[in-house]
Amino acid sequence: MNKGIFVSFEGGEGGGKSTLIKMLEQYLCSLGFRVTIFREPGGVCISEEIRSILLYKGMEPLTELLLYAASRAQLVPQALQPALKENDFVLSDRFMDSNEAYQGYGRNLDLKMVKEVVALSTNGIRPQVTYLLDLDPKIGVMRASAVTITRFEEESLNFHNRVRKGFLAIAEREPGRIVKIDASKDLKTVFGLIITDFTHRFLEKTR
Ligand code: TMP
Repeated sequence: MNKGIFVSFEGGEGGGKSTLIKMLEQYLCSLGFRVTIFREPGGVCISEEIRSILLYKGMEPLTELLLYAASRAQLVPQALQPALKENDFVLSDRFMDSNEAYQGYGRNLDLKMVKEVVALSTNGIRPQVTYLLDLDPKIGVMRASAVTITRFEEESLNFHNRVRKGFLAIAEREPGRIVKIDASKDLKTVFGLIITDFTHRFLEKTR
């Protein structure tokens, strides 16, 4: 039986996921909880290697879909499931929804096929809640490019708009799991919105 609660953060580029995850980790640790963070793709050696292969240019969309899924298929049994047994909370910087939004909607791969591959990669593990940091890609890509430029930041605005549309479609399909947050607001406000929802869902019961 898993003891831990699995929380993912999703969204396009520049929404502040990594910073917000660290802020949530610090907050939860200050309350005495055991917390672990993962990032996708990555988290275990083979998945980190796959992450560096994913930076190559000229990759076929299907190869891309399968590599992200392969990274997850490695992470889930080797690190995520054990972490859920040992921790109160496991926070992940992206998970399965990015695969559907980026490769399904962004790369225009067949959505049914994408969902089947994604389902294979997760071994049935799903986040209890997903915070979707929603942002106009015009702002998001600009914010992200100020930090690093990978081939994803270099993609067209149309690509990023399709990715955003994908995330919003998933949010509409699963309103109980996905909490859409307006990431154009300042970091403190965004964190406040997350904490309010998080406290209501998970912390009030433990008090
Ligand atoms: P980031 O999380 O550091 O922004 O980098 C991960 C990049 O990989 C980001 O551009 C989104 C992309 N990605 C996919 O295209 N599909 C996936 O399944 C995942 C997990 C990430």
